[in-house]
Amino acid sequence: MPILANKIIFFKKKTPLKVLFVATESSPYISVGGLGQVMFSLPRALKKIGVDVRIFIPKYGSLDEGQYPLETVEKKIKVPTDTEIPEQPQFLICKVKKYTPPAGALSNVPVYFLENKEYYEKRANVYGYADDPLRFILLSRGILEFLKQSNWTPDIINCNDWHTGALPNYLKTVYKDDPKLSKIATVFSIHNLYHQGIFDHRFVSELDFDDGKSPVASFFSERLTKQNFMKRGIIYADAINTVSETYAQEILTKDYGERLDDLLREERTRLFGILNGLDYEELNPQTDKHIEVNFDISSLGKRKANKIHLQKEFNLDVSEKIPVLGMVTRLDEQKGIDLLFPILEILVSEFGIEFTIVGGGEPKYRTFLEEMSKKFPKKIGTHLMSDSILPRHIFAGTDLLLVPSKFEPCGITQMEGMRYGAVPVVRKTGGLADTVKDFKPENNQGTGFVFEKFSSYSLFGALIRALENYKYKKTWNDLIKRAMKADFSWESSAQKYLSLYQKLLQK
Ligand code: GLC
Repeated sequence: MPILANKIIFFKKKTPLKVLFVATESSPYISVGGLGQVMFSLPRALKKIGVDVRIFIPKYGSLDEGQYPLETVEKKIKVPTDTEIPEQPQFLICKVKKYTPPAGALSNVPVYFLENKEYYEKRANVYGYADDPLRFILLSRGILEFLKQSNWTPDIINCNDWHTGALPNYLKTVYKDDPKLSKIATVFSIHNLYHQGIFDHRFVSELDFDDGKSPVASFFSERLTKQNFMKRGIIYADAINTVSETYAQEILTKDYGERLDDLLREERTRLFGILNGLDYEELNPQTDKHIEVNFDISSLGKRKANKIHLQKEFNLDVSEKIPVLGMVTRLDEQKGIDLLFPILEILVSEFGIEFTIVGGGEPKYRTFLEEMSKKFPKKIGTHLMSDSILPRHIFAGTDLLLVPSKFEPCGITQMEGMRYGAVPVVRKTGGLADTVKDFKPENNQGTGFVFEKFSSYSLFGALIRALENYKYKKTWNDLIKRAMKADFSWESSAQKYLSLYQKLLQK
C-alpha cells in the first residue's frame, strides 16, 4: 500500500512472513508418526501461499547425508546448561547444519539440523531415552542461541508438542530482554496432550508437582525430569493451537484434559483448533506407484484389484464379496484396540469378515492379534510393525477402515483411507468427529460410520450397520464416492495458520 507522506510516496516493502517450525521429527528426514507427517505437509502448504518457512529438528544418526547434503551454517553454538556444579559442563556445544532442497523437490522447505553427538547422533531412536527432557531442552535452547547469531530471524516460531515446550519458556524468561529474540511470537501446537514430558502426569505427588512457573531446571538436575513441558508450552506461548476444532473443545473438559483442563480453561482465549490436512499430491490413488492398480472416482471398478491384492498379500481367502476391514495404527491404548477384544472373533466367525492390520506397539495388543490370526489364518492378517508401503495397500484395498480411538487430536488414517475409497468407521471424538459424517440411509448422506461411546457394543453396532449397508452396492458406491470427494486439502488449514500468525503479529 502506498503511503503518502510529505508528498513523497513510499512503498511499504512487503517482506514475506517468516515462520520457523520446531519439532522432533519431520518427514522425509525422520518420521515416527503423525507429527512427522504434519511437519512435512504444513510447512509446504504455507510456503505455497508465500510464507518464508523453515524447519528446525535434531540431526539424528539415521539421517542420510548422501541423499540430503548438508551445509554447516554455524560451527559452534555454546548452549548454556545453567548448572551450578563446577564439575559439570557449563555449555553443550552444537553445530547447526542446513539442507536446502533443490528447486522442484517435493519437500521444498529449508531445514536446519541441530547437531550434537552425544544427545542425537549416537541415538538410534527419536524417543524413549531417560534423558529425553535434556535432549529436547537442548533443542529449544540451542535454537534460541542460534537465532541470536543468525541473520534470519523468524517473526513466528511454531513449536510442536511437549518436546518444544521449553522454547517459549526460555524466550519469555531468559531471553526476554534480547533485542532480537524478544520480538518473536510463539505458537505452541498440541498434537497429543497425553504426552507431557514427565513419566506419568496422571500420578504426580504433591512434592513433585510442577506449577510451570519456576525457571527451567538446569540440564543435568534431577528436577528436569519432573518438569512438565507441555504445561510450560501452554503457559508461555503467545497462542496455543491443537489439530482439530473438536479436540480444542474436548481438552477443556476433565475427561480429555489430562489434568491440564483447568489451565487450558483459564487460557481458552489463546486456544485455537485448526484441522490437519492431507497431502493430495503425495496421496493420490490415480498416480500412487505403490498400489496395484490406479483408480479414481470415475473408475471405481478398478479398485477391486487392490482388494484382491490385499487379500493375497495377507494370505487371506480371496473373494471380492467378503467385506474386508482394515486398520493402520500404533498399537497403544489411545487407538481403541481394546474394543476389538470381545468382538473380533464374532465378526469373523458369524459375520464373515476379514481383518487386516498394520502397526507396531504394545505387547498386549500384539499378543491378542497374533493369537487371533493363528486361530483364523485365512481371515485375519497382521503386520505388527510400522511400514511405509503396506498402509497404502490397506487404504486402497479395504472396504472399511477402523479408527475407534479413545481420543484423537486429529487422526490421519481416516482421511487417507477416504481418499482411497475406504469407508471409515470412527469414534466421535477429536478430529475423527470433524472429518467423518455419519451415514444416513434415509437420505443417502454421510461419509462413513460414526459411534459415540467408547465401548465394544457401540463399535459393534456401527460395524453391523456398515456390514448391512455394504450389501447394497449402489448406495455403497455412492458412499465411497462421497468419502473420496471429501476435501481435506492443506490449503484451507494453511490459510487458518496464516491468519493466526497475522493476528499474533498485530498484537
Ligand atoms: C498425534 C495425534 C494424531 C494427530 C497427529 C498429527 O499423533 O495422536 O491424532 O493426527 O499427532 O497432528
